[in-house]
Order: sequence, then structure tokens, then C-alpha cells
Amino acid sequence: MSITQDKIKGLHERTAKVMAGGGQKRIQKQHSLGKFTARERIEMLFDASSFVELDRFVTHRCTNFGMDREEAPGEGVVTGYGTIHGRLVYVFAQDFTVVGGSLGEMHAAKICKVLDMAMKMGAPIIGINDSGGARIQEAVDALSGYGKIFYRNTLASGVIPQISVIMGPCAGGAVYSPALTDFIYMVKDTSQMFITGPQVIKAVTGEEVSAEQLGGANTHNAISGVAHFIADNEKACLEQIRRLISFLPSNNLDAVPVVENFDDPQRIEEELNTIIPDQSNQSYDMKRIIAKIVDCADLYEVQPYYAENIITAFARMDGQTIGIIANQPKVMAGCLDINASDKSARFIRYCDAFNIPLLNIVDVPGFLPGISQEYGGIIRHGAKMLYAYSEATVPKVTLVVRKAYGGSYLAMCSRDLGADQVIAWPTAEIAVMGPAGAANIIFKNDADMTTKTEEYIKNFATPYQAAKRGFVDMVIEPKETRAVLINAFSMLASKREGRPAKRHGNIPL
Ligand code: HXC
Repeated sequence: MSITQDKIKGLHERTAKVMAGGGQKRIQKQHSLGKFTARERIEMLFDASSFVELDRFVTHRCTNFGMDREEAPGEGVVTGYGTIHGRLVYVFAQDFTVVGGSLGEMHAAKICKVLDMAMKMGAPIIGINDSGGARIQEAVDALSGYGKIFYRNTLASGVIPQISVIMGPCAGGAVYSPALTDFIYMVKDTSQMFITGPQVIKAVTGEEVSAEQLGGANTHNAISGVAHFIADNEKACLEQIRRLISFLPSNNLDAVPVVENFDDPQRIEEELNTIIPDQSNQSYDMKRIIAKIVDCADLYEVQPYYAENIITAFARMDGQTIGIIANQPKVMAGCLDINASDKSARFIRYCDAFNIPLLNIVDVPGFLPGISQEYGGIIRHGAKMLYAYSEATVPKVTLVVRKAYGGSYLAMCSRDLGADQVIAWPTAEIAVMGPAGAANIIFKNDADMTTKTEEYIKNFATPYQAAKRGFVDMVIEPKETRAVLINAFSMLASKREGRPAKRHGNIPL
């Protein structure tokens, strides 16, 4: 064997060692829990054969607690880049089979390197988390590693899409890297996020809770709002992420993706003319309206199980991605509450950061009344919506289909918050408050209250007072909505709007 051949053999041997991760026993344990390894996950996430690994031979330099004798193949994290639907995407995937995927100095350095590259190249980054947290043997070096990642997550916010995937434990301060990113995916039964685990909680507060109840996928998708998406298993989760990427531009300077549209942009939908119930207090499913309007009835909901009184979703109009914020009359009559305000404000800001036009579909009776809402700071939270809409400079189209009352009318992106087009159905009721409440105040001394209320409904619970002042640009037949909206977004494609120069605003948090 020549010297070169010998060196090539050495390379293959080293590579094989890294590829073996933490060894067969630990890989089998991972599989037995319904989990894939870091490399298997990457394989499923990227286009076939597109993944290129970096830093395969990086090793730690810790000597504490016998670590000088411990090999950690790949440093417990696989990093690199590849393509999704042909577009460049960076990845890091923690390898639980190697020192429990724990994060030390060099593990963090590998993650920071791909984060820096993703920023430089203007490409999304996906982080797959499956880790026991800070590598205990590395002490403060591990903490520093987390700090460096948090710092980069923050700098990258609004520049490139950052997607976090939780596919195992993610505990303690480790949760804050995902929390700083744009979207968090979780998998049922096998992923958990918490600041302090069940044992610590029991010791400190006496409360008893299982890890899944405390920080599982259902908890964070339906109760805390920390996570945005849930999947039944890892394969389904990775497929969902590929779908999300298809809606997003690669960075803040890129135009929003436009795909081939197989749906008629002029499609007339007769059903929309009868979708609004005759009784104003009757509910219906807003998703039926959305499905009739967007391309191929295809929408990808963000946080579908959290604050279901408001819908946030990506969809396409004539092939172009748009972000939809729509009240859901089926849940709490579509009222805006603390959680709905937080959910929508964050989504609006995401879309604005990445040039995604906004479609706001309004059927909102008001902000939710109640002591718990007031004590919880609905004033502060509701203000986030006003702030996010006013700050957004992407094309903003508002469609009022029924109720639009008072402050909530403004909060759903009225003309005065910078809506570029406000379109109303004849069923729209744009007024300072609901007819019963209004009549009670202004006609309180009137004997014929019923007639007066009817009068108010006829004259004021309509789109025409707003149209008279130019707050509404068009009142249209519902069946024409798709064509009208596509036309509006096409007209707004060249929109340019500035904001005063400042270091940054101070959104109410
Ligand atoms: C070093 C770790 C580790 C860690 C796990 N391992 N966590 N090594 N540092 N943080 C190692 C284990 O020793 C074991 O090695 C292997 O990974 C697999 O772990 P197991 O315990 O066998 O796995 P499992 O039973 O599935 O339990 C998983 C676990 C548990 C629940 C995550 O390992 C655990 O509780 N780990 C410690 C979690 C923790 O307290 N981390 C620090 C949090 S503080 P072998 O060789 O046996 O395979 C923190 C602060 C961050 O993260 C602050 C940021 C600002």
C-alpha cells in the first residue's frame, strides 16, 4: 500500500468512527423510543443526496472528570448544509447517542459556525434539538456556548428564517435558543421542553406532574403557545418542515416565493354569497371562507391549537405566499384576547420581516371582557397587534366580512393602521360598537327602543358609513372575493413604504 493509499484508508477509518455515533447499543435505544438518529433525520429532511457535512472531526478539549479519555464522535452534533426543494438550507442536529447530545464548548462552536454561514449566505437554518443540556463536565464553557448561540439567534432574527425542531429532551436554559427562533416544531410523546423538570418542581413547589404533561408537544402547542407545530412522529414532522420552507423566502432581502398556480385566479365562489348567517350572533367556520379564497384551498396553519379564536396561516394567492390573520367566529365569537393578540402580533411581525404580504379577514365583536383579561394585561397585549400592524410595511389587505367593532376593528388592520386596501362584503358591520349596546346608550330615554335599534342596525351596522369616509375602498359581492384580492395583491406588488429612522421601536411586551 502506498503512503497515499494508507492515508486515504486512515480517512475512511476516522469517518466510519464518526458515522457510528455513540454505537449500536445507544442507536438501538434511540430507535426503540420511536426516535431517529441525527443523521437519519437529516437524510429525511433534505433533498436526496444533497447534504454536505462540515466539521466532522471536531473534538472537545475537556479534561475534567475523565473526559480526556472520552471520545465524542462529531462532538455530539451533526452540522452542514443541503437543499430543500432545491434551495440552500443549513442544519445542525444534536446526536443524543453521543454524550447525550450534551452541549460543550466545541459542540456550540459547530452550531455557531453554521449559524454564521447561514447568515452570510442568506439561507434558512434548521436546528434539531435532542440533548441532555449543558455538558456538565465542561461547566462554564458549556454555558458560554449557549450564550454564543443565543446571541447569534438574536442577530439572525428577521434576517433568515430560523426553525427549531424538538425531538427529545430540551431542558433548562437550553430552551432559550429555540425560543429565540421563528418557529418551534414538537413531536408527540418524544419531545419535551421545560425550564425545570418534574423533580425540581416537586422539590420546590410540591406539585406533581409528568414530563410529558409539563412540557410535551400538546402542552406547548395548546396551552403555553411556546411551540407552533405538532407532529405525530418524526417523519411527519420533517415533512411538515419541508412544506413550511416552501412558503418562506430564504432571507429578508429575497422576494417572497412564487410557485406555479394551478387554480383559476378569477374563480367565482357562489357559496361565499350565503356563508354569513342571517343572525348576527350565529357562528360559522372562518376556515371555509379562507379555503374558498386561496389557491387550491391549501393553507398551512401556524399555532392551530393555540388561541383558536384567531387563525394565523400561510397560503398562496395566484402562486404567491401570503400570511393570513383571520378572526374565528366559531371560537369565543372571534373575540380578541391576550393569547390571540400575542399569537397574531408575532405572526404579523414574522411576515413583515420576510416580505410576506398580509391578508386580514375581519369578523370581530371586540376585545374579550373579563377581570382575568384585564389583570392579565390585555391592554399591553392587545397593543402588540396595533403596533405590529402599524409597523408592518408589506402590502396589507383587509377584508371585512361581518363584525368590525370599536378597538378591535382598528386592531385588525383598519385603514388608519396602514391597510393599503380595505374591502368589505355587504354583510360588514363597521361601527363603534354592537347595535344593542349602542342603542342602549344613545336611545336610553326613548320609548320605542326596538324600532330605534333596528334603525341603528340599518344605518350604522353596515359597511357604508365607513365607505362614505373612504375607510373602505370597495364593497363587493362575496363570490368575487378571490379575484378582487388577487388583483389587489398584484396592484400592491411594487409597494414601497418607509418608516422613521430609529435604533428600534419599543413594542409593548
Ligand atoms: C453530560 C450527559 C448529559 C449532560 C446526559 N448525558 N445528559 N452527559 N452532560 N448534561 C449522558 C449520560 O451520562 C449518558 O451517558 C447519556 O448521555 C444518555 O443519558 P441517559 O441519562 O442514559 O439517558 P436517558 O435515560 O434517556 O435520560 C435523558 C435525560 C438525562 C433526561 C436528558 O440524561 C438527564 O437528566 N440529563 C441531565 C440533564 C441536565 O440536568 N442537564 C443540565 C441542565 S442545566 P452514557 O455514557 O451512559 O451513555 C443546563 C443549563 C443550560 O442545561 C443553561 C444555558 C443557559
